[in-house]
Amino acid sequence: MAIFQTIPHPHLILTILFICLSFTITVSTYYTPRYACDTIRNPSLKKYPFCNTKLGIKTRVNDLVKRLTLQEKAGSIVSVADGIPRLGIPSYGWWSEALHGVSDTGPATWFNKSVIPGATSFPQVILTAASFNESLFYTIGKVVSTEARAMYNTGVAGLTFWSPNVNIFRDPRWGRGQETPGEDPVLTSRYGSTYVRGLQERDDGDKERLKVGACCKHYTAYDLDNWTSVDRFHFDAFVTKQDLEDTYNPPFKSCVLDGNVASVMCSYNQVNGVPTCADKVLLEDTVRGEWKLNGYISSDCDSLQVMFKHQRWAKTPEEVTADALNAGLDLNCGDSLKKFTALAVKKGLVKQSVVDRAVTNSFTTLMRLGFFDGHPSKQLYGKLGKKDVCSRAHQDLAREAARQGIVLLKNNDKALPLRKRMIKSLAVIGPNANATRAMIGNYAGVPCKYTSPLHGLSEYVKTVYEEGCNVKCNSTARFQAAKVAAAKADAVVLVMGTDLSIEAEALDRTKIVLPGQQNLLVCEIANAAKGPVILVIMSGGGMDVEFAKCDPKISSILWVGLPGQEGGGALADIIFGRYNPSGRLPMTWYPRSYVDLVPMTNTKMRPDPKTGQPGQTYRFYKGQTVYPFGFGLSYSSYVYTLIKAPKLISIPLNQAHTCGSTTCNAIDANDVCTDLHFDVDIKVTNAGKIAGSHTVLLFSSPPMIYNTPLKELVDFKKVWLEPLKGVVVKFRVDVGKRLSVVDEDGNRKIALGRYVLQVGDIKHYLSLKV
Ligand SMILES: *[C@@H]1O[C@H](CO)[C@@H](O)[C@H](O)[C@H]1NC(C)=O
Ligand SMILES: *[C@@H]1O[C@H](CO)[C@@H](O)[C@H](O)[C@H]1NC(C)=O
Ligand SMILES: *[C@@H]1O[C@H](CO)[C@@H](O)[C@H](O)[C@H]1NC(C)=O
Ligand SMILES: *[C@@H]1O[C@H](CO)[C@@H](O)[C@H](O)[C@H]1NC(C)=O
Ligand SMILES: *[C@@H]1O[C@H](CO)[C@@H](O)[C@H](O)[C@H]1NC(C)=O
Repeated sequence: MAIFQTIPHPHLILTILFICLSFTITVSTYYTPRYACDTIRNPSLKKYPFCNTKLGIKTRVNDLVKRLTLQEKAGSIVSVADGIPRLGIPSYGWWSEALHGVSDTGPATWFNKSVIPGATSFPQVILTAASFNESLFYTIGKVVSTEARAMYNTGVAGLTFWSPNVNIFRDPRWGRGQETPGEDPVLTSRYGSTYVRGLQERDDGDKERLKVGACCKHYTAYDLDNWTSVDRFHFDAFVTKQDLEDTYNPPFKSCVLDGNVASVMCSYNQVNGVPTCADKVLLEDTVRGEWKLNGYISSDCDSLQVMFKHQRWAKTPEEVTADALNAGLDLNCGDSLKKFTALAVKKGLVKQSVVDRAVTNSFTTLMRLGFFDGHPSKQLYGKLGKKDVCSRAHQDLAREAARQGIVLLKNNDKALPLRKRMIKSLAVIGPNANATRAMIGNYAGVPCKYTSPLHGLSEYVKTVYEEGCNVKCNSTARFQAAKVAAAKADAVVLVMGTDLSIEAEALDRTKIVLPGQQNLLVCEIANAAKGPVILVIMSGGGMDVEFAKCDPKISSILWVGLPGQEGGGALADIIFGRYNPSGRLPMTWYPRSYVDLVPMTNTKMRPDPKTGQPGQTYRFYKGQTVYPFGFGLSYSSYVYTLIKAPKLISIPLNQAHTCGSTTCNAIDANDVCTDLHFDVDIKVTNAGKIAGSHTVLLFSSPPMIYNTPLKELVDFKKVWLEPLKGVVVKFRVDVGKRLSVVDEDGNRKIALGRYVLQVGDIKHYLSLKV
C-alpha cells in the first residue's frame, strides 16, 4: 500500500488511511466472514488436500505451500495478504488488535453502526494488572476472544490479533507504559501468558486449534517511543546479556512456553546495533530455537521500511528483506516482503527454503484458526454473532475489572468510603471528572458505551460538576467556579490526570507530575472545600503527587489507571463502599526529580556508581519513591502470620555440576533438579470490619552477587476474606525458576547463601547450600 512509502507514523493515523485505501477496494461485502476452501460454492476445491479437514494440519499446510508460486508466497506474508483466487483463497488482513477489548486500531477489524457498532472496552492493561488476579486476566481474554470471533463471523474482524504488549514498563515517561502490565517481569509474564491463553484456548480443549491467534510484542527492549530528540525508529537500546535475560525477555519466553502464543512481534528499535527484526540470535535461535514458538514471527508496522529508511541498515530494500527473512521473520506488517522477496531470492540473498519456512509458519496459524475449513458457521464458534458483543455480562466484567484494579493510595481518618446518606451534594471537579475517551486509552476500539466518573457518582448521590480546567490545564480562569462548588458541597471528588494528549503511542512524557496547573487546582479546591476531598488520578504512568500525600486537607487518593468504558461506575462503587479496594501498584511512582537524574535512553537496569544512575524499577532503584511497587490500601487491614517456610534448602546436584568446593557462591541453574521446590504458607486474616479481596505478594532478596536485584516478586495470590476471617495462602516455590539469579553473561544461576523471603512486614531467612 502506498502509505508504507511514507514514514510509518502513529498507528492511529495509519489505520485511518489503511481502511480508506485498502478495504473499500478489497472488501466486497461486510456480512460474510473471510475463509478459504468454500467447497459448497466451489466443489472443485475438494480435490485439494489442503482443504481436507480430515488430514493433519502439517500435511495440509505442506500441500498448500507446494502449490504456490514465489510471488504468491511473498504476497501471503504481509499484513494485507493477497488473495489466491485460483486456489479459492481470499485476501486476508492479518492485522487486528485486542489489547483490552476488540479494537479497530488494526485495519482488519472495524466497527460500523449498522453491523457491530462497538465492543466491550476493558480497563487499559496497566489497571487490570493492578488487580494481581490471574483468573481475571484469563476471563477477560476469554470474553475478548468471544467478541472477536463474533465479529469475525460477521465479517468485520480478522482472526489474528496483535496483542498483548508485554514490554517491561521500565521508565515512567513511556507513553505506551499504559498498555503493559507494569515493571515487574513475573507479573508481566503471568499477565501475558494468562491473557494469551484466555484469547487462544478453545472450550473443547483442542490444543492444536486456536479460538483466535494472539501475539506478544514488541520483542525486545522496546520501551521508548518519542522522548526529546530520540524516537523508536532510531533508538538503539544498549542491553546487557544480564538485563536481557532477567528483565526484558522473561515475558516473551513465558508467552511462548506458558501461553503457547501463536506469534511474537519484533520491535522497531535496535538492540546493541542490530534491528530486532534482523537479529538471528533473537529470532531464529531464541524464539524459534530455544523456546520453540509454534507460530509466526511478525514485524512491527513497517519495521523493514524503518530498517531501510531510518536505520540505513542495508543498501537496498531487498537486502533488508533478506536479512529479516534469514534472521527468522515470517510475516511483515506493511508490504516490504511482498515487494522485495522475489527479488531477494533472484539475487541469491535468500533461499527459497527460507521463504517456505515463513509461509509455512504463517499458514499453519491460519490453518489452526479454521480459515481453511470452509464456512465458519459449522465450526465450534460459528454461532457467535452480534448478540455476543457488548452483552450485559461482558460490560459487567469491565466494571468488575476496574474495581479490582483501582488502587487506594491514601485514606486519612477513614474518609472513604463515603456514606451515601451523609452526602446531600457531591462536587465532582477536574479535567477527567466527565472523562469518556480518556478512560480507554491507547489501542482501544469503540466501546459499547461510557460510564464517566460523573455519571457513576451521580447514580449514588446528587452531584455538581465543574471541569476547573482541561487536561493540559493551562488556564486558571475556571478555578473560581470550581472553588465555589467545592465550598458548598458535603464532599469533593477531584478527577485529575492525563489523556492521550499527554501519554500515548509516539508520545513520551518529559515530566511525571500532573500536567499544567492541575496541582494548583487541587490545592485551591482542598483549601476551599468544607468536606472531605478525594483526589483521583486517572493516568497510565505514575505521578509525583507528594504535595497531595502530605496535605492534610486531602483526605484520600485513588489511582484509577485508565479504567475502561465502565471506569466511572467502578470508581463510584469504591468511593461509596460497594467494593473494597484491592488493587496494588504494578509500577514504582518516582519523585519528579527522577526525570532529571535518569535519561530515558539508559536501558541499564542496575545502578551505576560511576555515572550516579540510581537503578530502574523497584528491583534495582534505591532512591526515594512517592509510592512503591505493590503499594495499595484497603478499607480493611490484613494481618500475616508465617505458618511454614524452610530455613535451609540443601541442593542435590547432578553429576555434571561445576561446584564442588566451599569457595563456590553460585551453581548453574541447569545443575539443579528440575522439581526442587519448597512451600511457604502464610495465614492472612482480615482484621477489619469490611469484607474484601487481598493479594499476598511474596518477595525474595537474593544474596548480593552479580548485582542481583534488591528484591523480586516470587509469586502472588489473591484471596477473598470476610471480616475477621483468615485463610492460609500456600506458595510452592520452584527453586530453579523462582530463586535463580542471572550472572553478567546472562546465565541462570542459583546463588548459595542467604535469601530473605518477604511478605508484608514478615522477613524470613532461608539458606541455600549444596
Ligand atoms: C456499514 O456496513 C453496511 C453494510 O455493509 C454498509 O452498507 C455501510 O456503508 C457501512 N457504513 C459505514 C459508515 O461504513
Ligand atoms: C459529560 O460528557 C458527556 C459526553 O461527552 C456529555 O454528553 C455531557 O453533557 C457531559 N456532562 C456535563 C454535565 O457536562
Ligand atoms: C491552552 O490549551 C488549549 C488546548 O490545548 C489551547 O487551545 C489554548 O490555546 C491554550 N491556551 C493558552 C493560554 O496557552
Ligand atoms: C514526536 O513527537 C512530536 C510532538 O511531540 C511529533 O511532532 C513528532 O512527529 C513525533 N515523532 C515521532 C517519530 O513519532
Ligand atoms: C478474581 O477475578 C475473578 C474473575 O473476575 C473473580 O471471580 C474473583 O472473585 C477474583 N478473586 C478475588 C480474590 O477477588
